[in-house]
Amino acid sequence: MKDYLEKLPKEILDLVYLARDIASSNDMPVYLVGGFVRDLILGVKNLDLDIVVEGSGIKVAEDFAHALNAKLIRHRRFGTATVILESHLKVDFSTARKEYYPKPAHLPVVAPGSLKDDLFRRDFTINAMAISLSSENFGKLVDFFSGRDDLRKKKIRVLHDLSFIDDPTRILRAIRFEKRYDFHIEPKTLKLLKEAVKGKYLERVEPQRVRDDLILMLKEKEPLKEIKRLKELAGLSFLHPRLCVYARNYKLLGRIEEEVSWFENSHFYRRPLDAWVIYFMGLLDCLSPRFTRVVCRRLALRRGEEKRILNAKKHTGKLIASLSRPDTRPSKIFALLEPLSYEEILLIKAEYRNASVQKHIEDFFEIYNGMRILITGDDLRRLGLAPGPYYQKIFTRVLNAKLDGEAPNREVELALIRRLIKKR
Ligand code: CTP
Repeated sequence: MKDYLEKLPKEILDLVYLARDIASSNDMPVYLVGGFVRDLILGVKNLDLDIVVEGSGIKVAEDFAHALNAKLIRHRRFGTATVILESHLKVDFSTARKEYYPKPAHLPVVAPGSLKDDLFRRDFTINAMAISLSSENFGKLVDFFSGRDDLRKKKIRVLHDLSFIDDPTRILRAIRFEKRYDFHIEPKTLKLLKEAVKGKYLERVEPQRVRDDLILMLKEKEPLKEIKRLKELAGLSFLHPRLCVYARNYKLLGRIEEEVSWFENSHFYRRPLDAWVIYFMGLLDCLSPRFTRVVCRRLALRRGEEKRILNAKKHTGKLIASLSRPDTRPSKIFALLEPLSYEEILLIKAEYRNASVQKHIEDFFEIYNGMRILITGDDLRRLGLAPGPYYQKIFTRVLNAKLDGEAPNREVELALIRRLIKKR
């Protein structure tokens, strides 16, 4: 794999060489593993270096961080450490380990082990390859489970029959990789996956772990494909017994994809978007606000996420009458949309296809949201007005006039203020 490694961006390749040199000075075998190796062979960009050490992952991480003067976070209990570089690249180190699951769907018990043990505890053959970074066989692929052949044949395959029972979040991971790479889950793995679904093992996993994998799914390039396959293979009752997705919900999710790409192509500079939150809103569309809250709480979503999801459920209906009228004034549109999150606004845009709703929301993003007035507090002081809460009222009145096209320049803004002061 030397030639593959040499094609990496220089910044990454330098890190790989540094790991090789540190491995050699510590006399510990060191390997690149997991998703990084998979993506290297596939030619897919992946900057998350994942390194396994037969010896001490923490010691190698310490030397690595020291050489780069980088930040190091140690997790002694797990024998792992993460090095965070100034460029925000991060490198994960772990000590090769074996695992066993005393109870299905619960976290494993771990003990030091060989590289083979470490690869065997992993989810799929395509994620269970390693590349040696030791000087004597630098770049050699270690592939005990025919991962490379499965990559070639586009197959998702577990390493042993209990894989989904030990860790049912792998059901979500199998679907995620299948759709991401356009692979297929091979027949025996599919059978094992369906058995784990039938045994309701996903319901036994700590909800936060399900949440993390579900969010990763919704962050993939085409979440609609992922959701369809999830419904087909696992159903959605593991999220809530009343959760269902009908044809109209798929339609909505498809439109969310369109709106997210519209926003990301033309308005990304405004504010980063949590696109997965909108897909989650779309996924929970059929649930009442009460059950939506139950799902959010169970998955322990962050307060800000839960708030946006519940607001969308409760309030959007009330805005639609005004948004649907072509003659609603821009100042009114601004007042309605400005308090909402971008995620809620894009959900409305996906949900209501009426031309006026579309136009008002596009105008909001394109014009109203970035509009600034030209007068300042200094102007108000110069006009003899003492600072106080009245300032904000004046600014809002001037902004509304500007939004409605009634204050095209600074002079008109000042004239409007004078009139407002007189009337006071
Ligand atoms: N892994 C596993 N079982 C899990 C999660 C992870 O066996 N439930 C293993 C896999 O070998 C995986 C590695 O841990 O490759 C790293 O996990 P993660 O970073 O989550 O996955 P990646 O494969 O790197 O996937 P992605 O490209 O989505 O980051």
